[in-house]
This record gives sequence, structure tokens and C-alpha cells, in this order.
Amino acid sequence: MKDVFKTLFELREKAKLGGGEEYIKKQHSAGKLTARERLELLLDKGSFIELDEFVVHRCREFGMEKRVALGDGVIVGFGKIDGRLVAIYAQDFTFMGGSVGEMHALKIARLYELALKIGVPVIGLNDSGGARIQEGVDSLRGYGEIFYRNVLASGVIPQIVAIMGPCAGGAVYSPALADFIFMIRKTSYMFITGPKVVKAALGEEVTFEELGGAEVHAKLSGVAHFICEDEEETLEKIRRLISYLPSNNMDDPPLVDTGDDPERMDEELDEIIPEDPIKPYDVREVIERVVDVNTFFEVQENFAPNAIVGFARLNGMTVGIVANQPLVYGGSLDINSADKISRFVRFCDAFNIPIITFVDVPGFIPGTNQEHGGVIRHGAKIIYAYSEATVPKLTVILRKAYGGGYIAMGSKHLGADIVLAWPIAEIAVMGPQGAIEIIYKREIAKAPNPQELIEKFTRDYREKFANPYVAANRGYVDKVIMPHETRPILIKMLKMLSTKRDLIPKVPKKHGVMPV
Ligand code: HXC
Repeated sequence: MKDVFKTLFELREKAKLGGGEEYIKKQHSAGKLTARERLELLLDKGSFIELDEFVVHRCREFGMEKRVALGDGVIVGFGKIDGRLVAIYAQDFTFMGGSVGEMHALKIARLYELALKIGVPVIGLNDSGGARIQEGVDSLRGYGEIFYRNVLASGVIPQIVAIMGPCAGGAVYSPALADFIFMIRKTSYMFITGPKVVKAALGEEVTFEELGGAEVHAKLSGVAHFICEDEEETLEKIRRLISYLPSNNMDDPPLVDTGDDPERMDEELDEIIPEDPIKPYDVREVIERVVDVNTFFEVQENFAPNAIVGFARLNGMTVGIVANQPLVYGGSLDINSADKISRFVRFCDAFNIPIITFVDVPGFIPGTNQEHGGVIRHGAKIIYAYSEATVPKLTVILRKAYGGGYIAMGSKHLGADIVLAWPIAEIAVMGPQGAIEIIYKREIAKAPNPQELIEKFTRDYREKFANPYVAANRGYVDKVIMPHETRPILIKMLKMLSTKRDLIPKVPKKHGVMPV
């Protein structure tokens, strides 16, 4: 073999080793895969094309001229998932803890630029000690360049990040600017300031896991969208998520033959909602019986469980599902569920994914916690997101649709294209109990037997207002349907709306001022 060819092969082999054998062993003993092993699992076999594999850093401080590795601690390139192209970067913890220096960062930024031009999703596999300390302001500049690309790419190409190790300090903001974050129990954590700083500043003792582990971010902060048991599950779930998404904002989501009959009716749906209007039920059951079998893929499952969001397929078409969950707080809305819903609706709208909303909402949770936490500001986001969305919007009112919750949850008045209601739906300003206490306050106070009167007024109120027909008379509900007809009707409506065209804003503007 010619020497020049041999050199290339040697360099390629060297680049594959990242930080070297010793560090690869260390990575494995920490229960983690290497960046290359992760790529092997995530991408279709043999599809990966690596770029910039010989890039090295330019730092000459702190003896860094002696610590150089080809690739500079990050692998970037393009590969395929189920035959569809994606851009990918995987940080290599075996070289300087995957720390982000100037060249490491520029590799990621350049990948973003190319992905934006080609119009394909970017997937990041993060495993990094953060800004490379030895490179000082150059590494900060590098992060800034990545953040800027994250923002430019937002709403143009899907951005997915898996945290597969540490993610600390300002480094958290690139994942935070992406659309979806995956975290892994026990091996991944994210925080702005670590346990040591927390102890020094506040005297609080807290472990890595308690401060920013997967459980915390999936349940409490809502920063993580998916929590997984191990790396294999994480990579598998990323593949599944990608299967629902279009490659970019000009593309349609992939159409998949799920084999489920579009005319399938489910008689069980007629019995699913208890007669007693305050008895809870699991709205997931409704969703799963309506959408194509085994296609519901829940997002942020553990955060704000009073609302459910996720992707599914209806006759093979990707849809975004939003629902109130009566099992938790009776399905009432609050600060966290407002954030969860509005963010999801905006994602669907950005990527041409029709939104199906299942409504059973008694209103917003009352109390000082909510008011002082800004439920007004957060709740407004739902209204903003639905109003701004131009994708097909279909709403099914299952049971309660009271007050602000009725308006916010994809009502006709915020531009829903089709509103369906089940015959047990109650659409009113508020529930019967609260309403009659206000309307008939004087009569009830004077009555010799107030309970009897309350019961009579409640019956009257239900008959008059707590049904779908008043709204249907005014055209706020397009069709009252039997629960078992929901699937075939939604599929027909979805097809009907597939050529929908709508433009928002109605007058030119730079952008609105969302109540963030
Ligand atoms: C340079 C780093 C590094 C960093 C780790 N290394 N983080 N080198 N800059 N930020 C190096 C280590 O020195 C070590 O080098 C190798 O990577 C592996 O790290 P270990 O400490 O041996 O691994 P582990 O025990 O698993 O601990 C991982 C860790 C720890 C928890 C991430 O390394 C750590 O605390 N690193 C510093 C984290 C940090 O403070 N980063 C800056 C955050 S501020 P050797 O010599 O052993 O091979 C920030 C600002 C960004 O990121 C702002 C953007 C806006």
C-alpha cells in the first residue's frame, strides 16, 4: 500500500480511539457506552458518514499542546434512522470528559448549519463535563455559537438531545433550546450549579441525583421529556420519536401503514365515562381506543400528569394528542400543565402535525400557590398556542368543558376547525354546584329545606346548560357523536382537513409577544 494511503488509514484508526483504550475502559466501568457504540445502536447499520474526524483543538495553555485527540471529543456526521436521514453529534467522554472547547463546539455548530440547509433533524448525544476549562473564553464562544444555531434551527428542523452523562452549568442550555430531552436513570444529570456550589451558597446538602437526576427533571421541573432505564432504551425511543416527525417544517410527517381499520368502532367507549360526573377515569384509555392500535407515544408522561400529551397515528397519519386527565385533580389545569400543553401544541404546529384535543376540564386549580406562581401568565400560553396554530385542529369534548378551560382547550373560538362532543358533554361557564350557589343564593338562603332546593336547581341547570346541545345550537360544536364513532369520524375529518390552508399572523408582524 502507498504510504499516503497508509497514513490515512492510521489516522482513521487513531480517531476511532478518542481519548484512548484506558479511558474507554473507564467509560465502560461507569456503566456507559462510548460515543461510537451509541451511534452503532442508534443508526441504521452502515449508514453513518462521519465529518470533521481529524479536527483538533488549538489551545496551547496548561500543557494542552500535549493533550490532543483527533475529533476533539465529539463525533459528528449524518446517518439514517429507518432509512431517513438525520444529523448527529455524539460527545466523547473519553477525551477530556467530552468537555466543549472551541473546535469541539464549532464541529457541532457546522453540523447544525448543514442540517438546516439539508432540512433534517439534529440528534445530540450529550456526555460532557461542560466548557473546557483550559480554553477559557474560546470555549464560552463555542457554546454561544451552538446556542445561536439551536435558536435558528428551532421550528425548522426537529432537535432531540439525550443526556447520557453529566450536563452542567451553561451547557444545559443547548438541550434546553432543543425540542425533546431524554434522560437516563442514575447515569445522567443536569444542573446549572452543582451540589458543591449549592452547599457553599446555601448550606444545603444535596446529591447529584436529588439536584438534577432524571427523575427530578422528568417529574418535577419538566425539563426532561422522556426518562429511560438505560442507554439502549434511550436510543430505541429516539428512533421511535423520529418515526412520528417530519424531517423539517416544509415536510409532512411520514405516513405509516399501521394495519388498523379506519372504520373500526369501539363500543367500550360508550361505557368508559362514569355516569357520576365527578367520578374519574383514565383518559389514556379513550386515546388508546381511538388511535391506531399501539401507536400512542406519550411525551412528558411524569410531569403535570393532569394533562396528557403525545404523538399517535390515525389511519397512519401522525397526530399530536392533547387531553385533560380526570385521574389527577379531576383534569383541572394548572401552571405546569399549561406549560406542557402549550409547548406541545407549538411543536406540532411548527412541524405540520394536526392536533387532536380530548377535553374533560372542570377549570383551573384555585389557590394562592397557583395564583402567586403566575397561573394567569402560564394559562395564557395555552390560549396563545392554540390561537396561533394553523395546522388542522380537531377537538372532542368528552365530558366537562367549563369556563376558561372550555375556551383554552382548543375551542371553536380559538380557531378549532372541527369540534365534536359526546352526548354526555357538559359545556357551561361553571359546574352546576358553583353556578346555582351564585344564581339562586337568595332562594337557597330562605328555603326551609335548602338541600332539596339545591338538588332541584342542580337538575334544572344540568338540563338547561350542562349538555352539548346549547353549544351545538350555536354552532360551537359541529357535531354531537356517539363515543364509539369517534375514531372513524376523526379519520374522515382529518382527511377532509389535509389540504387546510391558513395564515397567521393576519397582518405582517415580526413575531408576537408570547406570555412566557
Ligand atoms: C476540562 C474536563 C472538564 C472540563 C472533565 N474534564 N470536565 N477537562 N474541562 N470542564 C476532564 C477531567 O479533568 C478528566 O481528565 C476527564 O475529563 C474525566 O473527568 P473525571 O473527573 O475523571 O470524570 P468523572 O469522575 O466521571 O467526573 C465527571 C465530572 C467532573 C463530574 C463532569 O469531571 C467535573 O466536575 N468536571 C468539571 C465540571 C465543570 O465544572 N464544568 C464547567 C461547568 S461551567 P483526566 O486528566 O483525568 O483525563 C460551564 C460553563 C458553560 O460549563 C457556559 C456556557 C454558557
